[in-house]
Amino acid sequence: MLQPALTSTASYQALETHAIEAEDWQLRSLFAASDTRFPDMTVDAAGLFLDYSKNRIDARTLELLTELARERGVDTQRDAMFAGERINLTEQRAVLHTALRAPRGTALTVDGQDVNADVHAVLDRVRIFSDAVRSGTWLGHSGKPITDIVNIGIGGSDLGPKMVCLALRQYAHPRLRMHFVSNVDGHDMDAALTKVNPETTLFIVASKTFTTTETMMNAQTARAWFLQSAPSEALAKHFVAVSTNTEAIKAFGIDPANMFPFWDWVGGRYSVWSAIGLSVALSVGFGYFSDLLAGAHAMDVHFKEAPLEKNMPVLLGMIGFWNRHFLGCASLSIAPYHQDLNRFPAYLQQLDMESNGKRVTKGGQPVDTLTCPVIWGDCGTNGQHAYFQLLHQGTDVTPIDFIAALRPAHEYTNQHAALLANCFAQSEAFMRGKTIDEVRVDLQAQGLSLAEIERLAPHKTFPGNRPSNTILMEYLTPYTLGALIALYEHKTFVQGVIWDVNSFDQWGVELGKVLAKSIEAELTGASVPERHDCSTNGLIAMAKAAV
Ligand code: F6P
Repeated sequence: MLQPALTSTASYQALETHAIEAEDWQLRSLFAASDTRFPDMTVDAAGLFLDYSKNRIDARTLELLTELARERGVDTQRDAMFAGERINLTEQRAVLHTALRAPRGTALTVDGQDVNADVHAVLDRVRIFSDAVRSGTWLGHSGKPITDIVNIGIGGSDLGPKMVCLALRQYAHPRLRMHFVSNVDGHDMDAALTKVNPETTLFIVASKTFTTTETMMNAQTARAWFLQSAPSEALAKHFVAVSTNTEAIKAFGIDPANMFPFWDWVGGRYSVWSAIGLSVALSVGFGYFSDLLAGAHAMDVHFKEAPLEKNMPVLLGMIGFWNRHFLGCASLSIAPYHQDLNRFPAYLQQLDMESNGKRVTKGGQPVDTLTCPVIWGDCGTNGQHAYFQLLHQGTDVTPIDFIAALRPAHEYTNQHAALLANCFAQSEAFMRGKTIDEVRVDLQAQGLSLAEIERLAPHKTFPGNRPSNTILMEYLTPYTLGALIALYEHKTFVQGVIWDVNSFDQWGVELGKVLAKSIEAELTGASVPERHDCSTNGLIAMAKAAV
């Protein structure tokens, strides 16, 4: 259904008027005005707790944002996604990552196909294979158990499995070392191959399309390296593939019996729940992989059933939209105060920016507002000693999502208290800031002269009034991690619906791929055709001269 331009809708216009009233709001004053802001602006779901009170919003803002979400059809489009309608309009595909974590027996038929039965048939194969490798009954060609697993994939076929394996390292099998090779830069593969023994290494070639240049080149390199010390019959014990493309897998020389399939209705960046998660199941075991799916499913149920006003992904999406449009925030910083989540910001970059980094509506019209902000970040407390300076005192206002576990999975409780103290202190500092008068009082107490106080005070002043969310969980477990990923998936969906962009295609990555192919041919060929601009021609000439 064609949507009217966002700025022409009644609910957007009401928000615009409201935003003018809200322009001068100070978070300090909003907190001072209400003792119940914390209970009023927090919500629990699927083992996660979201505190969104430190945003420049009030109850009316939320009411208007909810009206907008309703007017744009967040609830009806959500239902269409869960039902398997072809909401990915440019590729004419259903979008069913939620079906990958639906319990066995959930009824869902798409084009006459029982999706749930297909999903669980593949999950059963993932269970059997991962059990065999983990228990040591799956042996390498010379009769030794597998010790190293190299996942070869890129984008969604790398970021999700890698992020989850790192996040769940506490659950990992002690014998199995995980490696992830994604970059076409041979240094990436080289670094992995120098660490592993071909007799005890399992390669997973993970690619939805099985045509992605980086993955294909890396897979060929790994195969050639392997065959230097093993006969070709040994490949079946050491190479498996995860893909939707059976023909390409056969052509590569991988036995289809070693192929774990998935489907075109799983987007690459939404695929960690599918057989693309094979490396996760191998590392942590199928039981914990199932817990990851269960956590995501619990968030799906919440997203489907909770009223929009108390719906965690909807709230996160709407507040992000408010910050982007009405506060002009060009980026969102993700700050996990949990070292094991250190790849989570990189994972969210693809999820959010590849989904909503769009500039035309589903109907092909230019969008009439700003869309996806830049997503970036790093773990706390590391970020505090790097870029938090800019977040506190720079000229841009950058909202922050703080993510933390209340309990650690280690025994150094004093360090965990310090970690949480820093997390909460940062959100308080961003909210409150420090006024010039407060700075003056401090400096006076230190006995500084009036002239010295006036010289230093502007530098030591913090504007504050900077928005943040805080997401807490009891422990970082497979279940809570699953819920956390699904929370951001659905948040991304909500924003895509509000902007009326197709969150499930990624045409923007195509142009560079095509040009790279032709430049690669020029680099490896005899001459440099004069058909680029002079800068590109010059760079090509330099690379050729260096060969
Ligand atoms: O180039 C972007 C992209 O298509 C991503 O969307 C995807 O996750 C990645 O490449 C890898 O694709 P594939 O799994 O097909 O190799």
